[in-house]
Amino acid sequence: MSTQELKSTIRDMVVVGKGILAADESVKTATKRLASIGTESTEETRRQYRNLILTAPGIEKYICGVILFEETLSQKTDNGISFPEHLTKVGVVPGIKVDEGLAEFEGSVEQYTKGLDGLGSRLEKYKKFGCRFAKWRAVYHITENTPTEMAIKRNAEDLAKYAKICQEHGIVPIVEPEVLIDGTHSIDTCYKVTEKVLKEVFAALKKENVMIDYTILKPSMVISGKEASNRAGVDEVAGKTVKCLKATVPAELPSINFLSGGQAPQEATAHLNRMHTLGENLPWYVSFSYARALQDPALKTWQGKKENFGAGQIAFIKRAKLNSLATMGKYAENMENNNLNIVAVH
Ligand code: 13P
Repeated sequence: MSTQELKSTIRDMVVVGKGILAADESVKTATKRLASIGTESTEETRRQYRNLILTAPGIEKYICGVILFEETLSQKTDNGISFPEHLTKVGVVPGIKVDEGLAEFEGSVEQYTKGLDGLGSRLEKYKKFGCRFAKWRAVYHITENTPTEMAIKRNAEDLAKYAKICQEHGIVPIVEPEVLIDGTHSIDTCYKVTEKVLKEVFAALKKENVMIDYTILKPSMVISGKEASNRAGVDEVAGKTVKCLKATVPAELPSINFLSGGQAPQEATAHLNRMHTLGENLPWYVSFSYARALQDPALKTWQGKKENFGAGQIAFIKRAKLNSLATMGKYAENMENNNLNIVAVH
C-alpha cells in the first residue's frame, strides 16, 4: 500500500489557523436543525442550506476540510458545481461520514456504531466523488453504571477496524470517540471516562496496526455534564482536557480536532483558545471539527429566507474566523461584538 495519498491529505488538513467543518448531519439530524428555524426539510432545502455554508466566501481561509453526508456528494451549488468539486476548487478537502448511525446494545442505554459491512467498497465510491478522508463516530453515555468495559472495548475495536480499512483505501480516518455531555456528572467523572475511552481506542488502533501518523482524532472535551449543578469554568475545562490528552494520545498523532458536542458556540471557541494559552507544550496540532458550534449562528440568521443568505454566510465566516484565532490562542471574548471586517459578497 502506498502511503502517498495519506501523507498529502494529512499535509492539506493539518494547517496552522485552520480546522474542520462537520457538515455531515444525516437526513434525520438535518431535519431537526431545519425544524428549529421553522423550515421544512426537503432535498432542496437541505441543498440550499449546505450551499449557504459551503459557498461562503473565504471559507478556505479558516477551514481545511469539510465532512459531508452522502446525500450532499451529488448535490450542486447554485452555480451548478457538485459540492465536493466546489470545495476542492477553493482548496478545501472534502471528506465523508461513513458510519451508518447508532444501534443499542440489548437492554441498555449504551450504543455501538453500524457501518463496517461493505465499508471498503463504499470508500471506493466516495473516492470517485473526490473524498479524501472519512469519519466514524462512537458514543459513550455517562450514567451511574455506564460506560461499561464491554461498550468501551467494542467501540474501540470498531473504530480501529474502520480506521484500518480507511488507510488500506488511501483515506485518512477521523476517529471520533464522543463522551456525551448529557447528564449531571462532574468534570472529574468525565475525565476518568475520557481517559479510559482514549486509552482503549489507542490500544485498539495499535493492535490493528493503524498508522497513527495518518490518523486524526476527534474527541470530546473534558467537561461537566450539561445538567451538572456546578459546571467547571473555561480554565478547568481547558486544563483538564489537555492533561487527559497528554496522558493518552501518542505524540505521533498529527492532529486533534474537537467536536463541540452541545457546547454553545462561544463556549467551544473559548475552551479551544484557552488550551493554546495554558503555556503547555502540545505535541499535536489542536484544532476544531465543530458542527453545531460553527453552524448554529448561520442557521439562526438564515431562517430559511433568501434575503438572509448573505447575512447567514457572514455569520458562518465570523464563527470560522473566531475559531481559527482560537487555534492560535488569539481569540478574545470582546471580538464577539465586532464584525471582524467580514463583508458580504452577495
Ligand atoms: P458537534 O460539533 O455538533 O458535536 O458535531 C460534531 C460531529 O461531527 C458529530 O458527529
